Amino acid sequence: MTVPIPQEQNISDQVLPRHTSIAPEPSSTVTPIVSNTAAGVVIGLTGRPLPTFRAPAPLATHGPAYVIAMTNQKGGVGKTTTTINLGAALAEAGRRVLMVDMDPQGSLSIGLGVNPDDLGGAKTVYDMLMDSNTSPATDVVMKTSIAGLDLLPANIQLSAAELRLAGEVAREYALDRAFESVRPNYDYILIDCQPSLGLLTVNALTAADGVVIPMECEFFALRGVEMLRETITKVKERLNSRLTIAGVLPTMVDARTLHTRETIQAVLDAFGESVFHTTISRTVKFPETTKAGVSIIEQAPNSPGAINYRNLAWELVARLESQGSVTK
Ligand SMILES: Nc1ncnc2c1ncn2[C@@H]1O[C@H](COP(=O)(O)OP(=O)(O)O)[C@@H](O)[C@H]1O
Ligand SMILES: [Mg+2]
Repeated sequence: MTVPIPQEQNISDQVLPRHTSIAPEPSSTVTPIVSNTAAGVVIGLTGRPLPTFRAPAPLATHGPAYVIAMTNQKGGVGKTTTTINLGAALAEAGRRVLMVDMDPQGSLSIGLGVNPDDLGGAKTVYDMLMDSNTSPATDVVMKTSIAGLDLLPANIQLSAAELRLAGEVAREYALDRAFESVRPNYDYILIDCQPSLGLLTVNALTAADGVVIPMECEFFALRGVEMLRETITKVKERLNSRLTIAGVLPTMVDARTLHTRETIQAVLDAFGESVFHTTISRTVKFPETTKAGVSIIEQAPNSPGAINYRNLAWELVARLESQGSVTK
């Protein structure tokens, strides 16, 4: 199976109107960013030749997990949406995936159809962080409606963890320690971080092999990115030497606007080759599926958004396999 070039995705009627607050230049609205050059090379939305990504080969054995922290201290950039749909797309490709809700808002849990305020006494990420001996991750794991995809749920109680951990020895390693019991069982662990660079996010970065940074394609996308980069560098130097940027993901892309193209160029200037070729288009389907507590991969498997996230999963696996970060 090959992925169609994203031309159709962006001209689709599922794409929302562009930001009304920004008046686009008239000539910019019709310029396609994806184009076929005379030599037949397809140029992607990121202005580079677009490779074709294929469905990853099935795995003969599973684990140990490659751990990804979905991080950006800005809210509303697509962290939770990316965690859910990248996870669903990896599961669809036969990978075993564990998703971890590290946001006290519990949006990841809600997005997977779990009511975090009514867990019937089930343990959460909070219990696991406080004491992973009495509440090991294996006791907190919940199955989801998607085969091969499990969840460590969280709710508002997690907001107390930051304070309670502050006084502990090796407070940055609480999540990393808790993962010991589940790493062998999964191929990928995806951590949905809260919009801050506080102790919960530092725990996620300390437990991670790679960071994925979703970036909403709007004027202020790069504000605060230096602080995020400094945090990643410090964690790498002081707490977790294996940490790398696994990829930067342009989200909420409206390919018809000059504005989107300029933002993607600025993201490329800042992050170079770590920017994924895959971009996620702006579509009303995401708010709809989040409300319904399902992934877009289940709800509308052939929609542009599902194709985007499937493509992202394939690109990510290809990238990690070529780096030797995951085994084939
Ligand atoms: N590609 C997209 N197109 C349109 N809306 C999106 C897209 N991605 C996410 N959204 C919506 O934007 C809002 C914020 O996304 P979310 O994933 O919760 O961001 P974060 O976790 O970074 O705060 C949600 O309502 C979500 O449904
Ligand atoms: Mg979120």
